[in-house]
This record gives sequence, structure tokens and C-alpha cells, in this order.
Amino acid sequence: MKTFYLSIFVFALIVISQSSVRKYIAEEDYFRGFKAREFSIYCPERKTLHYRIESSWSYRYSIRLVVYPSKKTIGKLTASKKSKLFQGNFKLRNETTKSWSSGKIEQQHRRFGQNWTISWNETKFSMLTEPASFLTTFHDLEANQTAVGKFRLRLQSLLWVNVYDIEFNGTHESDSIFLLSFALKDHASQWKETH
Ligand SMILES: *[C@@H]1O[C@H](CO)[C@@H](O)[C@H](O)[C@H]1NC(C)=O
Ligand SMILES: *[C@@H]1O[C@H](CO)[C@@H](O)[C@H](O)[C@H]1NC(C)=O
Ligand SMILES: *[C@@H]1O[C@H](CO)[C@@H](O)[C@H](O)[C@H]1NC(C)=O
Ligand SMILES: *[C@@H]1O[C@H](CO)[C@@H](O)[C@H](O)[C@H]1NC(C)=O
Ligand SMILES: *[C@@H]1O[C@H](CO)[C@@H](O)[C@H](O)[C@H]1NC(C)=O
Repeated sequence: MKTFYLSIFVFALIVISQSSVRKYIAEEDYFRGFKAREFSIYCPERKTLHYRIESSWSYRYSIRLVVYPSKKTIGKLTASKKSKLFQGNFKLRNETTKSWSSGKIEQQHRRFGQNWTISWNETKFSMLTEPASFLTTFHDLEANQTAVGKFRLRLQSLLWVNVYDIEFNGTHESDSIFLLSFALKDHASQWKETH
């Protein structure tokens, strides 16, 4: 019987993940102490926890992307800062091949707004935010800068915890990369507020 329900669950997950647009809601934890912000990521509604973004300070700031319900870590990132610009090295786990592959997220100099570049296994993306905008967009740099995802800070966030609406429509494996990029960008803005 358990196996039966599990199969239905796995089947439901596959159906969700194959639809061309994936929508998530990312909600910051209310209590964070001195740590960087951590998030619960729900899909498609608040009820279903799909990922957690967890952070820690060791030698450097690091984040982990944990997938639910298995609670497996499928992404790891360590961040550093060089002459005012952030960069992060990340590793992603492929559940099929059980192997890790690595990539890089780098903040580029931009006079107004933000421009980050993401490279992973011969794919390249950019993550752009226009000045004074709550919207950040992802673009596939190998495919004529096609938009492949976005996230937007909800206005209520200014009063309470940060809540983001996220939409991804690239390949499925890019979701994890974009979530790590989202977390790094959020960390960069938090750092700016408190230093
Ligand atoms: C973002 O940075 C990359 C790499 O420097 C550059 O190729 C791209 O044109 C920049 N995009 C914007 C919108 O500034
Ligand atoms: C990297 O890309 C190549 C070609 O697109 C693919 O065959 C390979 O499986 C990818 N590696 C990983 C770790 O995803
Ligand atoms: C790339 O985008 C430009 C401007 O949006 C367009 O003129 C051009 O046809 C596109 N090229 C391809 C190969 O899609
Ligand atoms: C993804 O959605 C954006 C609009 O949010 C659209 O411009 C883009 O063409 C879509 N990309 C794909 C690969 O479907
Ligand atoms: C895992 O690797 C396989 C084989 O390279 C590839 O087909 C698949 O798309 C990868 N999955 C993810 C989620 O990266």
C-alpha cells in the first residue's frame, strides 16, 4: 500500500515537473538569528514543501539546496567577494547518474541594476535586475538571451518576511541552478543592508 501511494506521489511530481512552466513560492524563515536568510520553497501552493535553502557560516558563506520529501542535498554553493563583487562556486547532484558537477555564478560590474552570469556544463545564463525593480529575470545566453525564468519580491515583504514568486521555464535541471543563484543574490542584498 505504501508503495502504491509513493508511486502516485512520484507520478504527480513527474507530471508537475514536465509542465513547461514551474511556479514556486519562496518564503523566508521568520527566525534567522545571525545566519544568512533561509527559505522554504513551495510548489505549486504553500502546502507542498519542495525545497529548502539552508545556510551556514564556516570559513565562507555557504548554502545548501535540499529537496523534499527525500531531504537530500542536491546543490551546494560557497560564496566569496572580490572587489565589491560576489561570486559563488556551486556543485549540483544528478540523481540519475549520482554524480556531482560544478559551475560558477559571478556578479558582473554594472553601473545601474545588477548583472550576474552563471556557467554550468557548457550552458551560460545571465540573471538581470533593473534599477529599483523587484523583478529579476534569467536569460539563456546560448539561445539568443531567451527569458527562461524570473522571480519577483512581493510588496508585503517590506513589512514582513521576504516572499518571492518564482517561475522557471527552462530545462528542468536549470531550476536548481537558478535557486542557488536566487539565494546568492538575496544574500548579497542582505549583506549590503547590514554592512
Ligand atoms: C552581463 O554581463 C555579461 C558578461 O560580462 C555581458 O556579456 C552581458 O552583455 C551583460 N548584460 C547586461 C544586460 O549588461
Ligand atoms: C553536460 O553536457 C553534456 C552535453 O550537453 C551531457 O552529455 C552531459 O551529461 C552533461 N553533464 C552533466 C553532469 O549534466
Ligand atoms: C535573436 O534576437 C534578435 C532580437 O530580438 C532577433 O532579431 C534575431 O532574429 C534572433 N535570432 C535568432 C537566431 O533567434
Ligand atoms: C519563458 O517565459 C518567458 C516569459 O516569462 C518567455 O518570454 C520565454 O519565451 C519563455 N521561454 C521558454 C523557453 O518557453
Ligand atoms: C542527469 O544526467 C543524465 C545523463 O547525463 C541527463 O540525461 C539528465 O538530464 C540529468 N538530469 C539532471 C536533473 O541534471
